[in-house]
Amino acid sequence: MSVVIKPMHRKRVAILISGRGSNMAALIAAAADPAFPAEIACVVSNRPDAAGLAHAQAAGIETCVIDHKAFGRDREAFERALAAELAARDIDIVCLAGFMRLFTPWFVSHWEGRMINIHPALLPAFKGLDTHERALAAGVKLHGATVHFVVPEMDSGPIIVQAAIPVHDEDTPATLAARVLAAEHCIYPQALRWLAEGRLAVVDGRCKIAGAKRSAEKLTSPSS
Ligand code: GRF
Repeated sequence: MSVVIKPMHRKRVAILISGRGSNMAALIAAAADPAFPAEIACVVSNRPDAAGLAHAQAAGIETCVIDHKAFGRDREAFERALAAELAARDIDIVCLAGFMRLFTPWFVSHWEGRMINIHPALLPAFKGLDTHERALAAGVKLHGATVHFVVPEMDSGPIIVQAAIPVHDEDTPATLAARVLAAEHCIYPQALRWLAEGRLAVVDGRCKIAGAKRSAEKLTSPSS
């Protein structure tokens, strides 16, 4: 008797970057496992000089540059060009990974529930830029990172997963950033896995994870 095993439909993911792309690299590494429920279909940068582009190409991922400067102040024109590239590649999920552009409500609403972002702080604390400097200045004892759904308000969508790390007396913004970044590389692939598996539901602004144990599921770094 022969058994036909149908290939699992892996969600098609576009990662949007503007720079270094280390979170992008963590997502690519996780999705290199054929059992991962999502595949990285393309990496899009709004900056032609984003360092992450070379890493994506070396990993065999299609890349695409849509230079926002070519559109002047017309934010929607940039987004229409981006939307066309995503549609052409049949993208299911968008992951923002250090993507330094704000979206209009039009673009956000189109991707509602299918676009996620990683932020280097424990939201709702320290929205915006320079989070590590501000965390040190505030004297917080715990800092960290958050993966959340994207909504029109910056850094404000339903929280999917967070990683908390202790702040040390001797920390500088650079040392704190390095430990937070390592945590980011663990939680972003985990959040994408849950989303691609269809396990996330937002109820009254709170994100529930179907089948999640009461204690946190073990998160492993792709590099560990
Ligand atoms: C990360 O700290 C991420 O949380 C924030 O921007 C940074 C991007 O770093 N949104 P990288 O490009 O992923 O290395």
